[in-house]
Amino acid sequence: MRMYDLIEKKKNKKALSAKEIQWMIHQFTKGELPDYQMSAMLMAIYFQGLNEQETLDLTLAMRDSGDCLDLSGITGIKADKHSTGGVGDKISLILSPIIAALGIPMAKMSGRGLGHTGGTIDKLECFPGFTTALGKEQFIQNVNTIKLAIAGQTANLAPADKKLYALRDVTATVDQMSLIASSIMSKKLALGSDVIVLDVKTGSGAFMQQFSDAKALAKMMVSIGTMAGRKTSAVITDMDQPLGNAVGNSLEVIEAINALSGNGPADVMEVVYALGAEILILSGAAKKDDAVEKIKTCITDGLAIQKFSEFIKAQGGDASFVFHTEKFLQAKYKMKVAAPKEGFVQKICAKEVGSVCMMLGGGREKKEDVIDPSVGIYLLKKRGSFVQKEETLAYVFANDKSKGEAAVRDMIHSYTIGKDAPEQEQMIKAVIHSAQ
Ligand code: URA
Repeated sequence: MRMYDLIEKKKNKKALSAKEIQWMIHQFTKGELPDYQMSAMLMAIYFQGLNEQETLDLTLAMRDSGDCLDLSGITGIKADKHSTGGVGDKISLILSPIIAALGIPMAKMSGRGLGHTGGTIDKLECFPGFTTALGKEQFIQNVNTIKLAIAGQTANLAPADKKLYALRDVTATVDQMSLIASSIMSKKLALGSDVIVLDVKTGSGAFMQQFSDAKALAKMMVSIGTMAGRKTSAVITDMDQPLGNAVGNSLEVIEAINALSGNGPADVMEVVYALGAEILILSGAAKKDDAVEKIKTCITDGLAIQKFSEFIKAQGGDASFVFHTEKFLQAKYKMKVAAPKEGFVQKICAKEVGSVCMMLGGGREKKEDVIDPSVGIYLLKKRGSFVQKEETLAYVFANDKSKGEAAVRDMIHSYTIGKDAPEQEQMIKAVIHSAQ
């Protein structure tokens, strides 16, 4: 087989066979295909697309490019949750202990933040001592004993995706639906959970800004998961403004702790309930009409926050921070973002808020960048709020005064204030099950 012929074939909009895709991924993972040929293929895929069968074949080839975790040592139906990424997205921190406290093993693999979106691992590392570098045995043992473990992506889990993603990042080929679906699902399938629930974000802070694209991506991933024999569903949720009030690592951890203690922002809790209900229903632990109630009871009974503290401790973190959030590192400066005029908050550009957080040091432009956990933004006013001129819209938390001042200016621009009240956006836009 020659890569030249496969590029030519895709360039002419012909479908690649399973054998051709397997060969291409195998050669690429081994380092036997030059990046320039793979880049040409990615661009051909970007413009000509992959059909459903090709997308599935690519996913399976990437899954098989490295190790697949055998979770058969864990008793019960194992669940996993994945978000396509957003700003202020702390849902995994809240949902994982809730599901575990309800008795369902959560074996989760999480990532770090890159660009304007945050990552669960960076947030968890706000707890001194916390580690996601768990060996396979430790990972399985933790899920068996406390029903929850979160690990980082090991070097050999879907290594083809890791290499391909790096290439997509520099060739402007990230935002192609089949490439996103196969990238996410190859890692989910390699992990081996029985139930996979996907949070597909849509809006200004998401990869898929249009609802129709988010829906197509959700359907594609659900269909891949289902074809691979996993119970899979997707919830399409709003990412047109940041989720919750906190953006920035320790600020988000504190918001998650508050949510687990019964004081979560309404939009955050709506997403937690929707995704949690899907996990409980697919795992057979609840019915449609009692799933949300079970989650609420788990929080009010104190089981959720207790499980979170148990989990932090089990992965080496200082769990005293869970009950004493004042211990988290504080930023030096707290700066007010004042409303430039009176009116309704019509829009808050999620992507811009994420970029402001990154500029303050709360995110990474490059993989090697070191995160400052204490910086970020706390939004007091969200879409639909009426504000007076000079009223506080948000606070910026910074350790560098001039960066803080720039952040305040950028935050003012990320708000759109006008005289008309905006239409109410629904947080949960759709739920996609298999065969829909
Ligand atoms: N997250 C992934 O893991 N892969 C993508 O392609 C996009 C988001």
